This record gives sequence, C-alpha cells and structure tokens, in this order.
Amino acid sequence: MSENREQWGSKFGFIMAAAGSAVGLGNIWRFPYITGKYGGGAFVLVYLAVVVIIGMSVMLAEFSIGRNAKLDAVGSFRKLGGGVWPIVGWMGFICAFVILSYYAVIAGWAFAYIFKSFGGLMAAAEAGKAADAFVGFIANPVQAVAYHILVMVIVVGIVCKGISGGIEKSCKVLMPALFAIILILIVRSVTLPGAGAGLEFYLKPDFSKLTGEAILAAVGQGFFSLSLAMGIMVTYGSYISKDEYLPGSVRYVVCLDTLVAFLSGLVIFPAAAAFGIEAGAGAGLTFITLPAVFAKMPMGSLFSCAFFMLLFIAALTSAISLFEVTVAYGIDQLKMNRMKASLVLGVLIALLGIPSALSQGAVPINIAGKSFLDAADFITNNVIMPLGAIFICIFVGWFWTDGAKAEITDNGKLVFPMYTIWLWICRIVAPVALALIFVNGLKW
Ligand code: PFF
Repeated sequence: MSENREQWGSKFGFIMAAAGSAVGLGNIWRFPYITGKYGGGAFVLVYLAVVVIIGMSVMLAEFSIGRNAKLDAVGSFRKLGGGVWPIVGWMGFICAFVILSYYAVIAGWAFAYIFKSFGGLMAAAEAGKAADAFVGFIANPVQAVAYHILVMVIVVGIVCKGISGGIEKSCKVLMPALFAIILILIVRSVTLPGAGAGLEFYLKPDFSKLTGEAILAAVGQGFFSLSLAMGIMVTYGSYISKDEYLPGSVRYVVCLDTLVAFLSGLVIFPAAAAFGIEAGAGAGLTFITLPAVFAKMPMGSLFSCAFFMLLFIAALTSAISLFEVTVAYGIDQLKMNRMKASLVLGVLIALLGIPSALSQGAVPINIAGKSFLDAADFITNNVIMPLGAIFICIFVGWFWTDGAKAEITDNGKLVFPMYTIWLWICRIVAPVALALIFVNGLKW
C-alpha cells in the first residue's frame, strides 16, 4: 500500500501546507498578547529559543516517524514501535478529532465576520456595541451551528480531493494570500498616528516580566503554534518524498510560523494603541476589540474584512491539517477510500462540534463549570497534548533512535551535524519542559 501512497507534489507545496497547519489562531490571537504580557522583546527572545531548541526537535522527530512508516499516526506508532506505542498515535487522533470540532466553530465565526464587516458590524462597533454584537451572534443557535457546518463542508471538500490535489493546491494559494493580507494590515496599522505606543508595548524588552511562568507560556505556545503532538506532522510527514532533507523543511516551517506570529503583533498593537483601546487576547480581542478599532479607521469595513479573511485562512489551513490526521486514519487503518473517510469523519466531527457551537450562549452545555468548548480545549491542549508530546520524544530519543537517525540522514547519505544535540533534546530537555507544562496546566 505504501508504494502508491500519495505524496506532496513539490517542496514548496508541502511547506505551505505544513506552515498552513502551524499558522493559526494561536499565532494571531495568542502570541501577540502573551508577548506584550511577558516582557515584549525579552519574551520574543525566549520564545525563539524555545521554538528553535524544542519545537524544531519535536517537529523533526514527527516528520521522521511519519516518513519512515508511511502511515497515519496510529499506524506509524504500531509499525515502528508496536506494543503500547499505538496509544501515542491514538492520542494524536483524539486530539485532532476533538480540536477540529471546536476549531471549526471559531473558524465559522471568522467566516461570518468577513461579511459582517460590511453589514451592521462597523455601525455597532462605532456605537460601542461590538461586544453585544458578538455575544448576540454566538448565542444565536442557528447561526452558530450553520457557520460551523459550513466550515466543515469546506474542509471536507478540500481534503477529499487528496494531498496534492486538495490540501497542497489550496494551501499554495491561501498561504501567500495570508502573507499579502498581513503585510497590508501592518502598513495600515503602523502608519496610524499614535501607533508608536503600541509598538513600544509589544516589543520593548522588559526582563523583569520574564518569570518562570513566562517561560512555561513560551513552551506551551510554541507547541500549540507549531501543531505538534497531534499526529499532524507525523501524518504530513508520511507524504514527504524520500529525497527531502527533513531538517531543512523543519527550518522553513518553524521560521514561517514564528514570522506570522510576530507580524500579527505588528497589526494588533499599533492599531489598538492609535485609538486608545487596550488589546487583549482570544475571541474577545479579535471579535470585540478589533472591530472597535476598525470602526474608527477610514475605510474600516475594508480593513475589517481583510483581517477576518486573514483569520479565516489561518484557521482553515489549520483545520485542514487536523482533519487529514483523522482521514489518514480512516484510509490506512479502516481501509476506506479517501472520499468515504472524508465524508464519514467529517459528519462525526461536525456532530461533535454542535455542542461546542451551542455552548457559547445559545444553550448552557457545561462540563464541571466550563462550557463544552472550553472543556474540549482544556482536555486536548492541557492534558493529552503534553502527554503525547512527551511520549513522542521518548519514543525517538530512547526506543527508535537508530531508525530516526537513518531516516533523517537517508541511511547515512546526508549529514545531520546537530544529531547529538537533537537526540539529547528529545531524550531529556523536551520531556522535562513538557512535564512542567503538563503539571502546571492541570488547573481546571
Ligand atoms: N497551530 C495552530 C495555531 O497556532 O493556531 C492551531 C493548531 C492546529 C493547533 C492544529 C493544534 C493543532 F493540532
């Protein structure tokens, strides 16, 4: 079966797809905020160290597992590790399945806001009612569910067309578009009068804010942002051709992801500062604060529309990668064809997303005091993700070490000068860092 496995059509296409997975809501609505909070430029330096040392190592481990096994995440760990190792693949599958169910809900909000930018949104925001507009929108059961389903239909429509004909083709267009939009928005933002104060808040190094908590935040953000430990990079790795030098691809993906995260802050903080509005993080920032900012700008609806297109593209390309983890499982393990796997899993994930969509005000669906969406987010990102990542590192660091080395160096034909450093990061440094995040993140 592996002989006729689909492959990426080009290196560029693969990098766009992997960067598309990495660049998501995490870059746009979380990175700028935690950077501002934990010491600006000082935090950026720590974050860079974290993604270079730990993030790149784990991504390389995942690509090498996938490319060697040429299977989905569960099958890869079964083939290479046997025994209990498939559980690690399962953790990835479950994470991808659950995260996508609510990620598609949020992507649906972004999609809706592209059009609302020209509807009443600017007028509402100008009247100080951006919050009411957002709360009213997500509490409307029909709209919340309809946009979520629409996103799932788009995701299924792309993924069912295959690796090079669907995922790669769409990401090759969407990712350059995302860069173009972000550059336009930066130019607009930094040329507003008063933008300088925002830049200062975002970037001026303040080493006193670099606490232990800040470093943990950098590690957690790095993992989420690079889409690690969810089976994604194992799955995407399984479609990489044998000629590719994996450490080179990893470098591109990590650089692009970090670049977009950094650039997002250049959009958000200068614009918010120019109008004296405090920028926060998460849904509140993007769906409430930013419309208020855009409403004060000349041609605000246009910039608002551009921003929500940016957000939607970022979320869509990440959603595609989450979905591919589950579809690859359907194809490799359940022996379905791609179309059937896409339809069956798409319907199941869309159904699981409905309680998340409704839990934001339409119907009180709570689990132990958290909304369904927040609970799903907590279990995947705070519990399963760090555990899965620890096991991936232990797997390549201690069990499948020779296999990983042979895979990365193409059986000794290529030189990987950082091998020993990489190995010890996988063996000790990354598991310890992840264990700290895990323990620290267990507060419900
Ligand atoms: N990496 C994406 C982000 O930064 O938003 C989102 C993401 C995609 C997270 C896939 C996790 C994941 F498995």
